[in-house]
Amino acid sequence: MTFTQCVVNETLRMSNIISGIFRRAMTDINIKGYTIPKGWKVFASFRAVHLNPDHFKDARTFNPWRWQRKSESTTPGNIYTPFGGGPRLCPGYELARVVLSVFLHRIVTRYSWSPAEEDKLVFFPTTRTQKRYPIIVKRRVQSNLVM
Ligand code: HEM
Repeated sequence: MTFTQCVVNETLRMSNIISGIFRRAMTDINIKGYTIPKGWKVFASFRAVHLNPDHFKDARTFNPWRWQRKSESTTPGNIYTPFGGGPRLCPGYELARVVLSVFLHRIVTRYSWSPAEEDKLVFFPTTRTQKRYPIIVKRRVQSNLVM
């Protein structure tokens, strides 16, 4: 399911349910000429990094094929972090990937769908479809199954 993993990566890049994480500065931190004083709370925005065109060409375009050239493991750890990182890395990340992969595989091989209404992607305050992408789902006949 190599390409499924590309779709999962791209989905998590563009529209992760977690936009970022909070951290508290335990000491004064100097970074790029700014000081974050001890005790301040910081929001590290994953979205800002994942949608930064310096890191991902055409960052607002859903393009799972980009993951055929790069992979999670070849992307620096501070650029692609849908599951966080370091000691607080999400312990459920493998389970989440398996569930997403099974869902995608089942829906693509067993069903077909078409948009019920015209919808559009918006990026503020999070990435989402404006009307929640209403669709008409049909079960595929067994002989059409792609295995
Ligand atoms: C797409 C699905 C998921 C995403 C995007 C996600 C993302 C994250 C992120 C970014 C963190 C780090 C929070 C931080 O650093 O403060 C985290 C932590 C955590 N996640 Fe997930 N997660 C997902 C699914 C799951 C699942 C399926 C489980 C468990 C079955 C899980 C359990 C946890 C737990 C217990 C933590 C806290 C770890 C700690 O603080 O040491 N997550 N998750």
